[in-house]
Amino acid sequence: MKNQSPAVTLSQDQLKTLVGVAALAYVLPGEIIGVGTGSTVNKFIEALATMRGDIKGAVSSSLASTQRLQALGIPVFDSNEVDELAVYIDGADEIDGRGYMIKGGGAALTREKIVAAQSRRFVCIADESKLVQSLGRYPLPVEVIPTAARRIGRQFAELGGEAKVRMIGGQPLLTDNGQIILDVSGLDIADPLGFETLVSQWPGVVTVGVFAHQKAQVCLLGTATGVRTVTYEESSLRT
Ligand code: 5RP
Repeated sequence: MKNQSPAVTLSQDQLKTLVGVAALAYVLPGEIIGVGTGSTVNKFIEALATMRGDIKGAVSSSLASTQRLQALGIPVFDSNEVDELAVYIDGADEIDGRGYMIKGGGAALTREKIVAAQSRRFVCIADESKLVQSLGRYPLPVEVIPTAARRIGRQFAELGGEAKVRMIGGQPLLTDNGQIILDVSGLDIADPLGFETLVSQWPGVVTVGVFAHQKAQVCLLGTATGVRTVTYEESSLRT
């Protein structure tokens, strides 16, 4: 009988560690690295600590990531202190076959989009469960100015969506920017570029969690058989 290695099933947490560590391959010595937010990025931040002496530091997309980076001795710069970043590494709630994403499950979408926009390359790190045919199964996070929430909710209803204010401890969750999040279910986002352009223009919308203009160039996908690298077409600095 042949020697067969037993099938190993990795947990979602192990897949996140796998892609977090794999992302180190995109970290260039001497650079300032764009760092996202979330449980997958937390694995990347832990791995990045092993390279702390080789990089200048990080631009962070949230107070939570800033605290983690600083606790590990990685200097954090403000976005305004850096013109352009070579790479931005972040997770996603959904990613499709073109590198378009839904983000904002961790409520950090606004700063995530800002850092992505100043980066030449977005490397998305995600476990396989995040890969979708079409965006919209995950409720779309939208950061809004509170006084505009009802009208924006009605505008989403006209598109077939249902918007709910994200709550924490019985109160609306406040973002790092002091605004609130609407989570919109029931949308089918067939044209992510057009959808992002449309919703971004609605008065009171701070940031819509569709990342199409700031899409990923690379996705490191954690699968049962290891890290699968998916590459989408390159583009220079995104606007
Ligand atoms: C935070 C985000 C995260 O990237 C997204 O929610 C994925 O998080 P996780 O890695 O915990 O699954 O957009 O605003």
